[in-house]
Formats: sequence, C-alpha cells, structure tokens
Amino acid sequence: MSRPVWMITGAHGFLGANAQNFLSAQADIIGVSRDQHDLTTPESLAAEINRVKPDYLLHTAAIASHHVCDSNPDLAFAVNARATQVIAQACEQAGTKLIFISTDAVFSGQPTPTQPAGDYKELDPPSPNTVYGDTKLQGEIYAQNETRPLIIRTNFFGWSPSRDRSILEFFINSLRQNKPVSGFTNVTTTSLYVQTLLDYIYQLKDHAGVFHVTSSDALTKYQFGVFVAEQFGLDGRLITPEEVPEAKNISLNTHKLAVTLGIEVQSQVRGIGLSADQEGCLT
Ligand SMILES: NC(=O)c1ccc[n+]([C@@H]2O[C@H](COP(=O)([O-])OP(=O)(O)OC[C@H]3O[C@@H](n4cnc5c(N)ncnc54)[C@H](OP(=O)(O)O)[C@@H]3O)[C@@H](O)[C@H]2O)c1
Repeated sequence: MSRPVWMITGAHGFLGANAQNFLSAQADIIGVSRDQHDLTTPESLAAEINRVKPDYLLHTAAIASHHVCDSNPDLAFAVNARATQVIAQACEQAGTKLIFISTDAVFSGQPTPTQPAGDYKELDPPSPNTVYGDTKLQGEIYAQNETRPLIIRTNFFGWSPSRDRSILEFFINSLRQNKPVSGFTNVTTTSLYVQTLLDYIYQLKDHAGVFHVTSSDALTKYQFGVFVAEQFGLDGRLITPEEVPEAKNISLNTHKLAVTLGIEVQSQVRGIGLSADQEGCLT
C-alpha cells in the first residue's frame, strides 16, 4: 500500500521541522518553505496543492511572534488569516484534508463576569486580545467556511532547529550558562511536548472540527522552569519568581482529546522528561 502524502507549510519553523522529523516514519513528506511559496501571495501554493493533491496539508506557517504581529498587523492578517483562506479553498478543490494549527491565544486568559480564566473548552467563546490571537482566530473561521478542516489549538515546547525558539530552550540555554532568569508566577499555560503534539495530531488526522491539543495539566512559567531544572539536573535557584503586570491563564481543557483518542493526555512534567531523552532529535 502506498504511503499517504503530507504537505507541510512552515517546513523550516519550530513545529514544521519537528513535523517533518516525526511524520517521515509514516508518510511521504513535501515540506514547503517561504522561499518556495511566500504566503503574502498564497496563490502559488494554492496552485501547487491543486497540482500535487496531497492527502493531508499540515498548515503550520504563520507569523507566530506577538511582537511582529503587533508591529505589522496587515502582514499578520495576510499570512495568518487570508493565506489560510486561500489554502483552505485549494484543499477543498484538491480533496486534501486541511489540518490548521491554531493557538491558545484565541482566548484572552482573563476572567470575565461569566467565566473564570483558563481551562477553556472547545465550545467556549473565543476572546482574543492580541493581533496574533485575532488573526489566528480569523484563520480558523476562514478555514471552516471553505472546507472541513481539523483545527488544532495548542501551545508547545521542545527542540527547535535554531535551538532558541521554545520556553524549554530558554530555560536550558540560560541555566546551562549559569545565567539567572525570571520565571513568571502569574502566566499559566498547558504547553505540550512538540513530538507528543505531533503524535496526537497524527491520531486525529481524519477528524474534523476544533480540538484543544495541549498537556493535561496547567503550570505557571515559573513552575515549568523549576521542572526543567530538576529533569535536566540544572540549578533551579537561578530562576527568580516574578509577576507580569497583567496575569494570564490560557490553559486549555483536553477532555475532548482524551475521550476521542481514548488516552490519558500527557502532563508537562512527563513531556519535559521525554524531551531530555530526545535532545538532538532534529540533528
Ligand atoms: N510556538 C508555540 O508554542 C505555538 C503556540 C501556539 C500555536 N502555535 C502555532 O504553531 C504554528 C507553528 O509555530 P512555530 O512556533 O513553529 O513558529 P515558527 O518557528 O516561527 O515557524 C513559522 C513558520 O512560518 C513561516 N512563515 C512566516 N511567514 C511566512 C510567509 N510570509 N510565507 C511563508 N512562510 C512563512 C516561517 O518561515 P521562515 O522559516 O522562512 O521564517 C516559519 O517556517 C503557527 O501556526 C503558530 O501560530 C505556536
């Protein structure tokens, strides 16, 4: 039986590079980078999707930096939202299953009069309060208007090609150089180890709709850093607990993921342990 063909956008990015690494065991991979198809003009990628007709398109490419989105909202909209619409149209025409990587930032992480912050479920109303979150949510809406995508809202950590892209690497790079760092005590997420995220995405690939694919447990950035220090045998006393002016809890609820896959969703501590075993997996 021939292997399925997966096209991956953002192939040189943090998630895209991990996806190529993870999926190459089970599929034929076509990695798409900005050099080949710049998503500010997504029509050339749409034509390529229609020519190749891959079985799956894993759309990871995005302006993923809050800072870049804030300073250039038009670019953020073009890449995160408009390009997603054009890609979704092409997937529908080509019979390709679109898997769109979205984000926990479609939620504000702030309490409202009717809802506490965090533990967000798939049916909770999105409430982005950043350009990044807003344009990613618009990408979700466009994708759903054009095709029946699988939408993965996530937050992840692990090893990136540049070795400085993730929170795991931030703590490790600093602590290995004995550099003191701050760990925020009032920013809470459910970050998932990136290789586990890809395993879950692979298992979900033929589902449609929105899934929250994160770790099962919420940790503050400070707690995360302390666990990293413990698991990697580094000095956690270099991490100073600190508060940001505006507390944020963007943890996601993974009940739907657990029930759909019939699994116990991985915790952050377990993911940090796995990442220690898999250091250098991208080289
Ligand atoms: N990192 C996280 O914890 C996190 C959390 C939630 C959601 N996400 C989502 O996960 C996905 C992957 O994020 P990441 O952390 O892997 O980000 P990343 O490392 O910045 O990768 C993003 C990729 O998008 C590509 N890209 C940006 N602008 C482009 C353009 N105009 N045309 C074509 N490609 C373009 C980049 O290409 P170059 O390599 O050429 O720059 C890069 O390869 C994104 O959709 C993001 O919204 C990430």
